[in-house]
Amino acid sequence: MTDNPKSDRRAFLATATAAAGFMFVKPQLVRGSQANSAVRVGLLGCGGRGTVDATSIAINGGARIVALADLFEDRLVTAKKHFDDVANKQHHAGVAASQMFQGPHAAEQILNSAEVDAIVIATPPYFHAGHLAAAVAAGKHVYCEKPVGVDVPGALRAIETGKRAEGHVSLDVGFQIRKAPPFVELVRRIHAGALGEISCGEAYYYCPFLKMPDFPKASPTELRLRHWLHDRVLSGDIIVEQNIHVVDICNWVLQSHPIKAIGAGGRKGRTESPGDNWSHFDVVFYYPNDVHVSFSSCQFGKAPFEASERFFGTRGSSISPYSGPLQIAGDEPWTWSGSEKSGTPAHGEFSVTGDFSDNLAKADSEKHADFIQSIVSGRFHNQAALGAESALSAMLGRTAAYTGNPTTWDELLRSTESWDAGIDIEKL
Ligand SMILES: NC(=O)c1ccc[n+]([C@@H]2O[C@H](COP(=O)([O-])OP(=O)(O)OC[C@H]3O[C@@H](n4cnc5c(N)ncnc54)[C@H](O)[C@@H]3O)[C@@H](O)[C@H]2O)c1
Repeated sequence: MTDNPKSDRRAFLATATAAAGFMFVKPQLVRGSQANSAVRVGLLGCGGRGTVDATSIAINGGARIVALADLFEDRLVTAKKHFDDVANKQHHAGVAASQMFQGPHAAEQILNSAEVDAIVIATPPYFHAGHLAAAVAAGKHVYCEKPVGVDVPGALRAIETGKRAEGHVSLDVGFQIRKAPPFVELVRRIHAGALGEISCGEAYYYCPFLKMPDFPKASPTELRLRHWLHDRVLSGDIIVEQNIHVVDICNWVLQSHPIKAIGAGGRKGRTESPGDNWSHFDVVFYYPNDVHVSFSSCQFGKAPFEASERFFGTRGSSISPYSGPLQIAGDEPWTWSGSEKSGTPAHGEFSVTGDFSDNLAKADSEKHADFIQSIVSGRFHNQAALGAESALSAMLGRTAAYTGNPTTWDELLRSTESWDAGIDIEKL
């Protein structure tokens, strides 16, 4: 563990990206087309979340979806129909046949398309670090879904990719809650001192088992890819793939990353095959300045969906569920208007695509409009380092739980273990 974790984190972010925040570039230099024409977007990975992302980018960002790429034909066919409908409503042509890419080379084909200004990466997490690096190398603006990688080398590669993107393209990572108005206001108040000095917190993400569709004709390898959500290497396990949203919020609130974790967990209660993801994680994250966050999660059985964070300080406490009253109690009491009527957390609707209602209702629309605006204005985002920091934080909890040993941030960063799925997508 380093002696001065705050400056350690500043050093991490400073070396991770040349300049946090914006890099302003003249709009006419932003892409080959005119500054006032619609940004042309390609979707790589035409599944549930990619479809929600790209649709929202079109509707809320005023962009056009002009290209689609996926490993599997059925996904591409469904997406083409959907995005042709979206284009029809926007009074322009649908996706051209020449901009439909399928198979093991679909990623490089869409990234090399001269018709595409920006790319949405919504493939399984295992592919993100490679797809992100290729997208930036091809000069595309990128909206990459979380997590940026499944292992430490992948997260570090995303940081290097972010350095290459700096000043050339806009790079967003899919933590849309950071744009949800209730959360933005809550965190603003916490950073302004509404809780006083924070001592401890709690974060949880409880989710029922996520059943995947049957693919009776699929080979074992294809089935693994289709059911990537149950696969440790392809997903990063539930803490890195799904629970990362609440870990990201802890980092945001505490303006830091954990410097140590202890943890436990296991697969008890999960029996799906193929699949080896754990059913639950229980972790204590140690943040700088002696702040401890107890984290717990599950993804199995029939758990009601519930996700939230709580922080406790000398002047007050906060609670920030996806659904239900989002508020601060104590010296500066405050409740997000409307959230008190939005049901209790236990009744929150789960969305496998991230298209939530209640406190997250505007998360996607704000996030996606902001991404396109960053391109159009030339005020490029670079969220690679922050995205990697949250991925590494979740990996810290995962490593502590897998090994049963206390694990420090510095020890984690020394890991050179590359996760290999042993899948050759050329041979499907
Ligand atoms: N931000 C959020 O709230 C949120 C919500 C859900 C999912 N996600 C993330 O979005 C990503 C996608 O999740 P999903 O639920 O849409 O999964 P999905 O399985 O529905 O979609 C993934 C798509 O990628 C395709 N694919 C797989 N490997 C590929 C490859 N090598 N090249 C091209 N295409 C490939 C699949 O055929 C599939 O169509 C994941 O990283 C997930 O963590 C984010």
